[in-house]
Amino acid sequence: MSTPDAFQLPASALEGLGTRPFGVYVHVPFCATRCGYCDFNTYTAGELGSGAAPEDWLDGLRRELDLAARQMPGAPAVDTVFVGGGTPSLLGADGLAAVLDAVRQAFGLAADAEVTTESNPESTSPRFFEGLREAGYTRVSLGMQSAAPHVLRVLDRVHTPGRPVEAAKEARAAGFEHVNLDLIYGTPGERPEDLQSSLDAVLESGVDHVSAYALIVEDGTALARRVRKGEIPAPDDDVLAADYELVDAMLEKAGLRWYEVSNWAATDAARCRHNLGYWLGGDWWGAGPGAHSHVGGVRWWNVKHPARYAATLAGGELPVGGHELLTPEDRHLERVMLELRLAEGLPVEALDADGAGEARRAAEDGLLSASDLAAGRAVLTDRGRLLADAVVRRLVS
Ligand SMILES: C[S@@+](CC[C@H](N)C(=O)[O-])C[C@H]1O[C@@H](n2cnc3c(N)ncnc32)[C@H](O)[C@@H]1O
Ligand code: SF4
Repeated sequence: MSTPDAFQLPASALEGLGTRPFGVYVHVPFCATRCGYCDFNTYTAGELGSGAAPEDWLDGLRRELDLAARQMPGAPAVDTVFVGGGTPSLLGADGLAAVLDAVRQAFGLAADAEVTTESNPESTSPRFFEGLREAGYTRVSLGMQSAAPHVLRVLDRVHTPGRPVEAAKEARAAGFEHVNLDLIYGTPGERPEDLQSSLDAVLESGVDHVSAYALIVEDGTALARRVRKGEIPAPDDDVLAADYELVDAMLEKAGLRWYEVSNWAATDAARCRHNLGYWLGGDWWGAGPGAHSHVGGVRWWNVKHPARYAATLAGGELPVGGHELLTPEDRHLERVMLELRLAEGLPVEALDADGAGEARRAAEDGLLSASDLAAGRAVLTDRGRLLADAVVRRLVS
């Protein structure tokens, strides 16, 4: 691992460019307020010093994408764009149109590109969604987390009651066929009936995609401080497992099928192609402060602070904070870790002899599907999904 002065992608990374999906991730490092559980690389207006305003960020982004295109001669048009954060919706539809234009100018967009933006429902409106459609966005992902006011309070999350569902409906009315809602389960104090009512609200909104994450108490967050002080208990593993089963049962019953351990979609077309690119070892350029990239077995990441990001690019350099060349062992571990979480699973021939033996024992333990294994794929059973990380450890050790 090293911190280069001037980052240059090696020629080996560019081999086979265009034979794998190519995505662009854009990180928008701004939020109106900081949610107590979140440790993403994002800043409120009061936390940003000078040289880190949204205009500086957009200037930097244009420069980064321009340098990126020069690093990747012969890059294909972009298959998927994901503008995440942070809170991209704070840029407004015009700001997000400018972001997409910058991607188009640097690389070009494939005719059937999937173009997603994350949004906080509080900074959206019907006009906002219409503007996104006009700009060329095809998919919207909204942070909902919960419909229960007391759960949102524990999460330090501000929502007008009902706003996430209303925003999802507005997005659909503006012509978005593909809309996702994010849920968090396992918040201390959340009862099964709270989770059930959140899921009822999600289903009532008519979205075709749901991401549901177990609450993680991240170091350095306000939530971690409150747990440490004993003000609130840590999430309980048994509750998390029961919650996951409830989420899966309600979504499956409504026709949303899991395709990755934390993601459900109504149809194949509703799956997030951009995230599938991450999980299947595709190439992507991550632009913006702290963004991570992967092209042809090289991984690198940008400096985190928006002021340093903008200043480095204003000086004509890529703001790379570090990079690593993945070894065959790294690539094997990543492949097992990511593909095993998919409903399609992992081809058994991707495992070494020990891993294949462990896969057989995991099937005997009811963690992998015996019939899929006989057909050459390692696919998690319902029980295996609850223990996905432990199964991965068995298959790679
Ligand atoms: C960038 S945010 C989504 C867009 C927008 N910033 C918002 O929150 O509405 C990405 C998602 O990550 C999930 N997330 C963030 N921190 C988490 C944590 N500590 N545990 C579980 N999920 C988390 C939340 O579901 C959140 O909606
Ligand atoms: S969850 Fe979303 S809105 Fe809340 S701080 Fe994190 S990125 Fe910002």
